[in-house]
Amino acid sequence: MIYLKTDEEIELLRISNQIVAKTLGELAKHVREGISTFELDKIAEEFIRDNGAIPSFLNYEGYPNSICTSVNEQIVHGIPSKKANLKNGDIISIDCGAYKNGYHGDSAYTFCVGEVDPKIVQLLRDTKASLYKGIEMAVEGNRLEDIGYAIQTYCESKGYSVVRELVGHGVGRNMHEEPEVPNYGRRGRGKKLVSGMVIAIEPMINMGRKEVYFEDDGWTVRTYDRKPAAHFEHTLAIRKGKADILSGFNFIESVLGEKEF
Ligand code: MF3
Ligand code: CO
Repeated sequence: MIYLKTDEEIELLRISNQIVAKTLGELAKHVREGISTFELDKIAEEFIRDNGAIPSFLNYEGYPNSICTSVNEQIVHGIPSKKANLKNGDIISIDCGAYKNGYHGDSAYTFCVGEVDPKIVQLLRDTKASLYKGIEMAVEGNRLEDIGYAIQTYCESKGYSVVRELVGHGVGRNMHEEPEVPNYGRRGRGKKLVSGMVIAIEPMINMGRKEVYFEDDGWTVRTYDRKPAAHFEHTLAIRKGKADILSGFNFIESVLGEKEF
């Protein structure tokens, strides 16, 4: 069952997603060599609570933290750790959720730590661009798989592969609602998109092969071939003509400025 949101609900979803966007902007100030992913988690949790929200991920199906921190070959759902200190040349996907007024926000961004291999920087640029390719298709009247088709064709044309085991999703009173939003698909297939649907689109793109490995910590998903992966996510409302992006990378981008890849 897909819950269509009223305009009022979309404004509440915007509030939650803007808290996530600002949290990621705050984290952008702290991502650097030497910091542990646990410290990033604490910064995020405090920032979310200071904004009158609750971290969506904390205790979600037993998840122990407020953000997911996935480094290098980790694709998503990496668990913050006091022992995981960022090194020069790492990349780190930070996925964040915030819950306020009964609605969730959900967004993710992959950051560079210091000097990163140019081919990996290009993977980040291309994955971020693929998210916007998907968003361009997320308009009333298109079909759900048009989104994944756009992401897949863009990424595969550059020689990357698309993760199949994890997908985007509806967002609302629950962090994960219907429909599932795959990052692959066939043009013109799937449910018709209707104004008022709110979805998270989150391409997970591998430099090497598409296969994944589920670590035995119960959460971390990494590439099977241990090559790097990138992950970017926005929550948006389907509208006529153009999607309304409820999250945003503007806070991150203004912190990173010229240092953004
Ligand atoms: N935000 C993730 C997603 O995009 C889910 C995080 S899983 C959690 O779907 F358990 F950490 F919350
Ligand atoms: Co999500």
